[in-house]
Amino acid sequence: MSVSDAELFAHAREARARAYAPYSKFPVGAALACDDGTILTAANVENASYGLSMCAERSAIFAAVAAGHTAFAAIAIAGPDGVTVPPCGACRQVLVEFAPQLRVSYQAGSSFVTTTIDALLPATFVFP
Ligand code: THU
Repeated sequence: MSVSDAELFAHAREARARAYAPYSKFPVGAALACDDGTILTAANVENASYGLSMCAERSAIFAAVAAGHTAFAAIAIAGPDGVTVPPCGACRQVLVEFAPQLRVSYQAGSSFVTTTIDALLPATFVFP
């Protein structure tokens, strides 16, 4: 049985607690549902050299691929309470690489909304 968007969002909220965000103080958690039912979580990891910081969503995808998962059904993203946190542009491009049909749930105020990566990133660049 596939995970519900609400359940996946709850996993993202849990993962947010493991963010390393001492500079922005903007912790983000992501939970990725693989087609085989595996749920993987990650968080943003910042660096003293700010530009080296990594978003939660890309951390999740990279960890998942390195662990042997390349087929994904959905991702959920949670940020600081009350904030709306759609995935940044860089993360959208990385998400669509592996999952052009991906369901994306992101925190919106005190709840979350669900959309698709296709809606978030139309006219996607793919390698010709
Ligand atoms: N961040 C994410 O992890 N995901 C997003 O979609 C937006 C931004 C992180 C990057 C940085 O560590 C902090 O949030 C503030 O931008």
